[in-house]
Amino acid sequence: KNLGVLVSGRGSNLQCIMDACAAGKIPARVAVVISDHSDAYALERARQAGIPALAVNMRDYPDKAGYELYIVEVLQKHGVHLVCLAGYMRLVGPTLLGAFAGRIMNIHPALLPSFPGLHAQEQAWRYGVKYSGCTVHFVDDGMDTGPIIMQAVVPVYDDDTVDMLTERILEQEHRIYPEAVKLYCEDKLIVEGRRVRVRV
Ligand code: GRF
Repeated sequence: KNLGVLVSGRGSNLQCIMDACAAGKIPARVAVVISDHSDAYALERARQAGIPALAVNMRDYPDKAGYELYIVEVLQKHGVHLVCLAGYMRLVGPTLLGAFAGRIMNIHPALLPSFPGLHAQEQAWRYGVKYSGCTVHFVDDGMDTGPIIMQAVVPVYDDDTVDMLTERILEQEHRIYPEAVKLYCEDKLIVEGRRVRVRV
């Protein structure tokens, strides 16, 4: 299967997915990487792996629909089956969502439905929860609200800083995102309403 990865920044999750594909752990290949920021380091990572990488600037389009329409064209041109959001810092609008219904995944650095939105690790740390983690989910029209595919839990220690917690969560992101993508590519994810189960 062909994957399209949407990014905005550093791209460490992208790297893990590219590595897992290259190592044959995921029966897929990253066909194209698209960033909404031209200076995203993720683009550099893609190019180093020989993967087509391009920046699409929302300001070059009259509206979000036009911007997303171009992204959809690029994804389709590369024969993309599954779109992975990996640190993509925008809400997906109806144009992209409609073209890839049920075929967009995201990773969120908290245990959803707790702490959706930005700075999730800091939200959890401030709230004082004793466990947090990360969630891979399908994307719907809400903010971090789609059906949950996989989660990982990490402890929050009394002397943690936000940075320490963020690092502990990131380690788990790098483990479960490729794993969830692998299950999808193996056609093992069964979606029943909100509930996603793994075919055995
Ligand atoms: C990750 O923490 C991810 O959960 C969140 O944005 C961050 C992206 O990091 N959505 P990276 O660009 O994959 O390194």
